[in-house]
Amino acid sequence: MIGRLNHVAIAVANLEKASRLYRETMGAEVSEPLPQPAHGVTVVFINLPNTKVELLEPLGDNSPIAKFLEKSPDGGIHHICYEVEDILAARDKLKAGGARVLGDGNPKIGAHGKPVLFLHPKDFNGTLVELEQA
Ligand code: CO
Repeated sequence: MIGRLNHVAIAVANLEKASRLYRETMGAEVSEPLPQPAHGVTVVFINLPNTKVELLEPLGDNSPIAKFLEKSPDGGIHHICYEVEDILAARDKLKAGGARVLGDGNPKIGAHGKPVLFLHPKDFNGTLVELEQA
């Protein structure tokens, strides 16, 4: 059911510094910062030949990554995103298998303009999993 690895998301406290690290030291192609007020983050995309890395910096007062950075001030892997062909079919299959979907259980439009869902890390080996409809 799951397809390609769409991205790995890394939470960072300082997006400019992290972008410079990837652009200058790692030699990667890094996008301009994109504020996503609905998701409480500012994002940059790092395009790799086979997938993407996204750097997330908290935006606003209720950022979903603020607590994560409190616990991990140096930053860290926040979630991984797998592509699925049909997000509602994937959700229903996962729920039938006992997995918990975060929020109200309905897909939201994610950073790439496509429907996304998040799955409870306790049900996926301690990893927050995002599904994105490809
Ligand atoms: Co993501």
